[in-house]
Amino acid sequence: MKILVTGGSGFIGQKLCADLARDGHIPLVVSRAPDKAARKLPDSAIVRPSAADFVDESPEAVVNLAGEPIAEGRWTESKKKALVESRVDITRAVVDLCRRAEPAPRVLVSASAVGYYGDQGEREVTEQTPPHDEFAHQLCKRWEAEAHKAEEHGVRVAIVRIGLVLDAGGGMLAKTTPVFKLGLGGKLGNGEQYMPWIHREDMVGAIRFLLERDDLSGPFNASAPNPVTNAEFTRELGRALHRPAVLPAPALALKLAFGEMSRLLLTGAKMLPARLEEAGYEFRFRKLDQALSDIFSR
Ligand SMILES: NC(=O)c1ccc[n+]([C@@H]2O[C@H](COP(=O)([O-])OP(=O)(O)OC[C@H]3O[C@@H](n4cnc5c(N)ncnc54)[C@H](OP(=O)(O)O)[C@@H]3O)[C@@H](O)[C@H]2O)c1
Repeated sequence: MKILVTGGSGFIGQKLCADLARDGHIPLVVSRAPDKAARKLPDSAIVRPSAADFVDESPEAVVNLAGEPIAEGRWTESKKKALVESRVDITRAVVDLCRRAEPAPRVLVSASAVGYYGDQGEREVTEQTPPHDEFAHQLCKRWEAEAHKAEEHGVRVAIVRIGLVLDAGGGMLAKTTPVFKLGLGGKLGNGEQYMPWIHREDMVGAIRFLLERDDLSGPFNASAPNPVTNAEFTRELGRALHRPAVLPAPALALKLAFGEMSRLLLTGAKMLPARLEEAGYEFRFRKLDQALSDIFSR
């Protein structure tokens, strides 16, 4: 099957494309830098600069992952604009491909994030939970709304609201592990904020589950069934690396250093994968200690 992947050169996309190619599918990857992206992708992947370049290939399915990195640098007004516009523009191009391709793709699995819910304190968050209105929510809302427009062209649309994706070689562990290895790790603020996490293998597993199941559409929380607080995460990561994690980063320092972006570090949601579990998706990594020991034993 030909599967179009935007952001295929990224942390999730690389593993998704490798797994799809291993199983005989052809990844059609959209990348701003096709030559560079191709070096990170399986030989069978075809890489082009825009979704429109693939209209004549009539992909059967689309996975939409591309977007300006969220957790890097301060959220200045121009950074916020890039965060929103990069996602909305690419998603619009994907919807346009759905309109023009003959036949249209069967399904679009489009990324969103736990940020959809905003700060939720300690309450359990399922797909039914009303969001807290803040920048991350506005961003995800616009991104999701753009993806849903593919339905007008007969495409089934599933949205994955992604938690923190864990694996070696990228994502948040690539940033935190070196700090913890130096013995400089510690909880952020009071450490009570929830960090819904998901092993990259389950992230790719959930996307493929949604690609295959014709009866599933709408939003799906993509995080393991046992979310942890930041303090628990810090403890488990310290344990997995055999380093004590005792140097807390005070909330005020993070607010001064990162401005509004510090909300990503200091607030959270106890997100549960209610709809994925109801639909029968079986997580390979349900507990954080199990996920971290898999990642650090490789
Ligand atoms: N990883 C996580 O923990 C996590 C958590 C929640 C949500 N998500 C969301 O899931 C999606 C995939 O995550 P990821 O970790 O795989 O992301 P990633 O590694 O940052 O990769 C995303 C890809 O998007 C493309 N991209 C970056 N900036 C862009 C821009 N300004 N305009 C157009 N394309 C741009 C890049 O591809 P090219 O350079 O090849 O064009 C990049 O490889 C992202 O949208 C992310 O926000 C991820």
